[in-house]
Amino acid sequence: MEHLLGIDVGTSACKAVVMSASGHVLGSGSAAYGLAQPAPAWAEQDPADWWRGTAEAVARALAASGCRGADIAAVGLTGQMHGAVLLDAADRVIRPALLWCDQRSAAEAGDLAARVGQERIIAATGNPALPNFTATKLLWVRAHEPELYARIRHVLLPKDYVRLCLTGTAATDVSDASGTLAFDVAGRRWSAEMAGLLDTPAEWWPPAFESPSVVAAVSASGAAATGLRAGTPVVAGAGDQAAGAVGNGIVAPGLVSVTIGTSGVVFAATDAPARDPRGRLHTFCHAVPGGWHVMGVTQAAGGSLQWWRNRFGEVESAVAAASGEDPYDVLLREAAAAPAGAAGLVFLPYLMGERTPHTDPDARGVVFGISPTHGRAAFARAIAEGVSQSLRDCLDLIEALGCPVHQVRMAGGGARSALWRQIQADVFARPVRAMRGSEGPASGAAILASVGAGLHGSVAEACAATVAVGEETRPQPDAVAAYIEQGEVYRALYQALRPVYRLAAERAGRP
Ligand code: XUL
Repeated sequence: MEHLLGIDVGTSACKAVVMSASGHVLGSGSAAYGLAQPAPAWAEQDPADWWRGTAEAVARALAASGCRGADIAAVGLTGQMHGAVLLDAADRVIRPALLWCDQRSAAEAGDLAARVGQERIIAATGNPALPNFTATKLLWVRAHEPELYARIRHVLLPKDYVRLCLTGTAATDVSDASGTLAFDVAGRRWSAEMAGLLDTPAEWWPPAFESPSVVAAVSASGAAATGLRAGTPVVAGAGDQAAGAVGNGIVAPGLVSVTIGTSGVVFAATDAPARDPRGRLHTFCHAVPGGWHVMGVTQAAGGSLQWWRNRFGEVESAVAAASGEDPYDVLLREAAAAPAGAAGLVFLPYLMGERTPHTDPDARGVVFGISPTHGRAAFARAIAEGVSQSLRDCLDLIEALGCPVHQVRMAGGGARSALWRQIQADVFARPVRAMRGSEGPASGAAILASVGAGLHGSVAEACAATVAVGEETRPQPDAVAAYIEQGEVYRALYQALRPVYRLAAERAGRP
């Protein structure tokens, strides 16, 4: 009974990890699902797929670890943030969930900001109105699907929908609630003021708890679907970024993580809510009780390389299929053949609009500087470099806010590649550290479960017992110089294109 289970309801798959109290991963399992994009920069998923994926992933993780359900002392949940799961009075799903990267509520976010003022929204919630946040998605449904809106009685975040299926209990945690735009981040409670400004019922949201608190227990039907024992305690858990940070030991000021998953996130823990007055960084509650964090978000980080692989990577995918490699390893090996700076090719990773530093839903991806000499290697390298330049923008804003940056830890799929780690060390012009043995947000969720189960006294204590920092990658002076030059072109490009993005949005009929 000393083992923990972490479940991460991700954007491309659900992942489950069985971990010992000392942080050793005993087994993991995952199950993939699809993403519907009915229009450019829209993104939806069927919550039933998350629950199916969770049941499969948990069963696989238990089998891989050789553990029985009865060996699990507690379960921690984490997942993609901001998604709007709309439920009727009988807790039935009303429509596919609108996801974190969906930009369709840009007009509603803009109207709210114009009507109320971003300063007042930042004062109430810690953050400005953005189309990524759950509440602005509700406003879009109210404006465009009024008959569906009329049926809403409850709104849940993605991992909390899985909790409802697993336990029958509706609950959330303060870190995930922070990304709804309906939560008072400084006060760690739902904002009555925002409920009034949004004109959405406060009762729609579930109770919010600190992340390591036990809030529910696996039900008989949840046990039957997953192989867990009925009655197993389930902690509140955290949004994927806060849980990932716990998994990387980012629990005190001075430690910063850079995670490349579908999105890219630069995350710093803080002792108090630190607000960017222009709202370019998110200010959220941390999964550490009484702690906060700031983070900058690149919408399409791994998502940019995924786009390249899906749309143009037939050759690399075929090579990978023949050799048994991961297609991303083949793509990044190809990228290593191009020089630092991609021979003048510059990529802006704004495929899904951008949050940090532009908060611009109309921005789109750009490959600039193409000449007849550029081939596939330069394109693949430019993508990894452009994503890293965007993460550098996030890091610079965090430092400018006065947050100390003593150590940068790399996480997510992007950290698996030695080339991408080197590019980041060079673009950031500072050493970066890999992590050892972490399974990302699922590990963090398992660590939170270990605190809820009483196996560790606090999140910081649990991290000290479980998190292992790995090898260091140091910046190379020549490459640093190349990326300073590339960065000038990279940043000038967005400024030059901003009016063109606006024009293109108007022509496409977006107000
Ligand atoms: C964080 C964010 C993404 C999603 C998906 O603000 O939008 O990281 O949580 O991973």
